Amino acid sequence: MRTPIIAGNWKMHKTYDGAMDLVEALMDELDNVEGAEVVLCPPFPWLLAVAEYLEETPILLGAQDCYWADEGAFTGEVSALMLKDLTQYCIVGHSERRALFGETDESVNKKVHALIEHGIRPICCVGEREAEREAGETDTFVTGQVRAALAGVSAEGALMIVMAYEPIWAIGTGRAATAEEANRVCGLIRNAIEELYGAPTAEGVRIQYGGSVSGRNAAELMRQPEIDGALIGGASLRADEFAAIVRAAAEG
Ligand code: 13P
Repeated sequence: MRTPIIAGNWKMHKTYDGAMDLVEALMDELDNVEGAEVVLCPPFPWLLAVAEYLEETPILLGAQDCYWADEGAFTGEVSALMLKDLTQYCIVGHSERRALFGETDESVNKKVHALIEHGIRPICCVGEREAEREAGETDTFVTGQVRAALAGVSAEGALMIVMAYEPIWAIGTGRAATAEEANRVCGLIRNAIEELYGAPTAEGVRIQYGGSVSGRNAAELMRQPEIDGALIGGASLRADEFAAIVRAAAEG
């Protein structure tokens, strides 16, 4: 039985005051929620302050990106080594980083290795653009991204990873994938993992869906057998909406 995992990717939102207000509201909303793992991924500057808030709670913390080298002349970067005392999770390969900041399958793979080495669980994003979808290439594209991200990773390492299927056309558009389609592609990702590592590992890896998840569509998505949680953008910035999704996952 895989525990569902709901992660809030705040992206580049919230000032310090806004971040603290959101965490405080989330504490009230998420008091007593059991049956789902909850991860908050605020911007880098607020990680420490949010970590202090979360200290006595079961809610976990994630970064939105990292660099693979431990230290060095890499102005502006933050290493997995630096994050390891602070966060339990780190998002890698988000489509915004791939599209806007030059992230490649190779750099995603290096980050996955660095995170595993430092005991941080990667939330590894994959997903096709509208163009691949329309060309009927979703399956080969997504499978290729999964294989590239996992290159050289051991089965033990793979079990630390949470995969996140985020079709790019569904991100921030209000046009989520249907539960059926999201479930189908998450199943495909699991098959790719099974081919690499065998069934026991594939059965253990959690696979999230992300892209316009809201309090309204969460229950149906979370009921799908291959979907083990969600990566939330816009709706993670509202405590009531995020909590509704967490409750849907806990019940699903
Ligand atoms: P939205 O939930 O705003 O569509 O964003 C999804 C996402 O990119 C999470 O990483």
